Amino acid sequence: IADHLVLFMPSGKRGRFPKGTTVLDAARQLGVYVESVCGGRATCGRCQIEVQEGHFAKHKISSSKDSISAIGPKEARYAEKRALPVGRRLSCSATIEGDLVVDVPQDAIVNAQVVRKDADQRVIERYPAVQLCYVEVDEPDMHKPLGDLDRLKAALREDWGFNRLEADAHLLSEVQSILRQGKWAVTAAIHHDDEGDAARIIALWPGLKNEAYGIACDIGSTTIAMHMVSLLSGRVVASAGASNPQIRFGEDLMSRVSYVMMNPDGRQAMTKAVRQEVGKLVDKVATEGGVDRSDILDAVFVGNPIMHHLFLGIDPTELGGAPFALAVSGAVKARAGDLRLNLNPGARLYMLPCIAGHVGADAAAVTLSEGPHRQDEMMLIVDVGTNAEIVLGNRKRVVTASSPTGPAFEGAEISSGQRAAPGAIERVRIDRETLEPRFRIIGSELWSDEPGFAEAIAATGVSGICGSGIIEVIAEMYLSGIVSEDGVIDGAMAAKSPRVFSEGRTFSYLLHDGEPRIAVTQNDVRAIQLAKAALYAGIKLLMEKQGVETVDTIRFAGAFGSFIDPTYAMTLGLIPDCELDKVSAVGNAAGTGARMALLNRNHRREIEETVRRIEKIETALEPRFQQHFVYAMALPNKVDPYPKLAG
Ligand code: FES
Repeated sequence: IADHLVLFMPSGKRGRFPKGTTVLDAARQLGVYVESVCGGRATCGRCQIEVQEGHFAKHKISSSKDSISAIGPKEARYAEKRALPVGRRLSCSATIEGDLVVDVPQDAIVNAQVVRKDADQRVIERYPAVQLCYVEVDEPDMHKPLGDLDRLKAALREDWGFNRLEADAHLLSEVQSILRQGKWAVTAAIHHDDEGDAARIIALWPGLKNEAYGIACDIGSTTIAMHMVSLLSGRVVASAGASNPQIRFGEDLMSRVSYVMMNPDGRQAMTKAVRQEVGKLVDKVATEGGVDRSDILDAVFVGNPIMHHLFLGIDPTELGGAPFALAVSGAVKARAGDLRLNLNPGARLYMLPCIAGHVGADAAAVTLSEGPHRQDEMMLIVDVGTNAEIVLGNRKRVVTASSPTGPAFEGAEISSGQRAAPGAIERVRIDRETLEPRFRIIGSELWSDEPGFAEAIAATGVSGICGSGIIEVIAEMYLSGIVSEDGVIDGAMAAKSPRVFSEGRTFSYLLHDGEPRIAVTQNDVRAIQLAKAALYAGIKLLMEKQGVETVDTIRFAGAFGSFIDPTYAMTLGLIPDCELDKVSAVGNAAGTGARMALLNRNHRREIEETVRRIEKIETALEPRFQQHFVYAMALPNKVDPYPKLAG
């Protein structure tokens, strides 16, 4: 029989197959993931593909409608009952009849409609850890005294090729009734934990079950964000966020660790609080997505080390001081029920590995999402919070550190600082001649000197300065000559403008003469200098380890990074010199990394291996850190040049 060349897109995997091979079989042999629940019975409709027609010069292959078999009776029955979209075929029925180019649509059409604004639109190739498998099981037979569960396993082994198959104990009491209810046809949820070839039956339904969900959750110290994702199509069906209720035990991470140290039941209280909130979010996304909680079979969580420990019920005290020992650094695999998460009784849980005592599973998720280890360019990832988590590397080598920036970038320690919220000043310009400022607040598109500004902001007023605002105002003060390279507000400028005024022995700059009065004080400038020097010194240390003078791309992760203007970040020397169009914000990259781990078990292996390889640099132990810190106190830096900025 003639062989035909088959090319799968978008993966680009290709191979030769005898005429008459089903497209699904060809995909399997090449390791292209095509979903299948019914095992090729043309009833689940999950194995859809599209034939691409035309000549593909790059791949030296031509493909046409005749390269695939005509629709057969089984497929026609499905198409009639369930409406197969135009152009789609069931790959379990369609066979190869000529050279063929096949597109595996990642449910892109559904994705485009339903994907949430707040979820990254990236399409993630699916290879989930939990798989639905429909089987028809032999009926009991007096002559072959094999148990119901054993016949179920035999059928799964036969149809789906599982070698080693175990079943969760909670199914033992249900297997009889489910098999009979389904008239010996059932769908099993199989979990692969990738250790050896072991697979486990974790859930069972009568008949054909055609949908299963997972949740991807980023537990931040301030906010918890969750996506509900279909494990079969990859689409995000609902997203929600909530404040982390641990805030009432302490604003920042260290105060939460102290709370545990001072209160005998502090750890339990915080674990309970975060798990309850996660439970509420599950309810929310389930309701919004129209999903039954019992259809949620897998859950992936990420968070910084302290959030990670508290969620798992681990005392974080050790993380409060050197040597910052993690109780567990590798990926955590458990049952969702062990953490009292009310999902399907068999649902599994996966937490990404932590990189180091200061660099958590959230940073691992960001790394997975941005993929410095997958490319040649030297990529710098910065996640600014109370601690800045810094990752620098490429395919060859990845290094990481955390720097104690303190909360100044989040508006704390700043006299008029506040969290990013309506009313906060986020953009600032200062006239180089008159030193008059204009600004914009969160919640309004108008600048303060534009007509209608007062009316536009009537609801909130001007309440303070947020993190990105403080960066801009100090950068503008520096560019206008109000602040010197050493970070001193120049009293001589008071002669030029009444905006610069004396406060005891130092000077301040009046940004907003209203209620409240908003000024930038000498202490504010100092606080930002200290924070940015810590951040830059950490980055510089990593650059030295890598032996590079410059970086190729910079990614800002997290909320702060989404609002900061890269030009100003560079003007103040928060980050090293880099082409401005190579600096970008990646929003909730941790959430994207969590979704990748949820939808593709290869990504779990990838990040576990990457984290093992990542070199951890402890800034406190590096003598060069102090030197870099001192240089970085200057604006933008005492020794390092910024040629890209000048251009
Ligand atoms: Fe179920 Fe093709 S595998 S329809």
